[in-house]
This record gives sequence, C-alpha cells and structure tokens, in this order.
Amino acid sequence: MAEDRNTLTPRGKADPFWNSVASFGIDEIFVLPEWISELKGEKTPSVTGKEGGNISGELEALTSRVGNCRACRLCEERNSIVFGGGNPSAGILFIGEGPGANEDIQGKPFVGRAGKLLDKILEAIDLDRDSVYITNIVKCRPPGNRNPSPDEVAACWWILEEQIRIMKPGIIVSLGAPASRTMTGSTEGIGKLRGSIHRYGDIPVLPTYHPAALLRTQALKRPVWEDMKKLKKLLDELNLPRTGKDKA
Ligand code: URA
Repeated sequence: MAEDRNTLTPRGKADPFWNSVASFGIDEIFVLPEWISELKGEKTPSVTGKEGGNISGELEALTSRVGNCRACRLCEERNSIVFGGGNPSAGILFIGEGPGANEDIQGKPFVGRAGKLLDKILEAIDLDRDSVYITNIVKCRPPGNRNPSPDEVAACWWILEEQIRIMKPGIIVSLGAPASRTMTGSTEGIGKLRGSIHRYGDIPVLPTYHPAALLRTQALKRPVWEDMKKLKKLLDELNLPRTGKDKA
C-alpha cells in the first residue's frame, strides 16, 4: 500500500515497533502531519535533553497528568497552577516555596518583588532566566502567602519529583527553609542548612536564604553572596549551564 502524506504502512519496516504493529494485522495507520517525518525516521525529535530525552514534551505531558489537580486545599483559592519556568535543559534548578499573589495571577514563578531580586542575584553570577529553571515545592498559592503545610507539600511532592526525573539537573538551589528542608530531609533552620552542600540522591543541593527574606533583612545579603560564589564554583566544575535552549 502506498504511503500518502498522512499515512504510514507498518509492513516491511525493519524495526520491532513497526513489526509488532504489523503483527496485529494493521496495514495502514493515520498519523498527524507534524509527526510523519519523525515516525519515518527522517527527523530526530527537536528538543533533546542531557540524555536525548524530549524534556519539553515530557514536562507538557506532566502538566496534562496534573490537570485540574484537587489533591489538597490549595486548589480552592488558586487561579493558576504554577509549574515553573526558564530553561529545563540548563541543568540548574532553583526551588522556592510556593507561588505568591502575582505568580498566581500570571501563572509564572518569581514574577513579583522577590523575583526581581532573584534576577539580580542570578545576574551577579552571570545567569539569567534562560540559564536556569525555577519552580516551587508547591505549585498553588498558599493563601496569604503563608508557608505551605507538610500535607500540602506531601500532596504536591510527586510533581517536583517528576520534574527532577525529567530535567535531571546537575545542581539544585533551594530557596528558604521550607524548600531547603524538603530537599535535604532535614528539620534544621535555613541558617544551619546554608553554607554546605547537601544531596538529593546524587544531585548536589545548595540551600540559601529566600530572596523575600533578603527584602526584609539586609544583613542576609552577605551570606547569600557567599552561597552564590560557592554556586558559581560548582557550576564551573560541573560545566553548567548546559547550552541547549528549551524554554518553558
Ligand atoms: N516566592 C516563592 O517561593 N515562589 C515564587 O514563585 C514567588 C515567590
């Protein structure tokens, strides 16, 4: 059977997937036009990550799986589920606490005052939003910007776990106590956690103060700067950020 623009004939294709399709007696399958050259093996997927995976596609699929999540009470007052933003192939993952009012309205992380300060912190070590990915431990706004409760963090944890599995960051920077405790499994305060490198599996985790805390307490600028110098050194050692641009 001849192939037209939108069909593929499984018979005669030398690969196990197509052989198994043919073994079901299927002579012709209809495919979306934008998939056809990929399925014919003429083109490799356009967006590839560290190990050749399709990071954007997998993150999109994760977003669909989350759907209109109602796993905890934060769904009741939210306007948006804020998954994250930046370059998911960069290999550098910043994790904050949870969306605030501006983030909830815009559906993007760190777009308010704390976000502007985070931009300056990134700039100080030659990074920007295109060279990191930024997300939060909970994806919906805790009302009144309170800390997320342990059951809310637990309900949302699988999403962050999946994001990390998909993006395979080379380093994680946790911002503030809730994110740092979640990522290190420690119950210590941020003052004790910062200043050393922890691990999430085999990924180094560098806790530092949350930019919102810096807005309140100028004296925290120095320790954050020390942490950023440490981050810069680690990035050089790990050869990060990865260059592929794959914005979300
Ligand atoms: N604070 C956070 O922890 N996350 C955001 O996205 C914004 C402010």
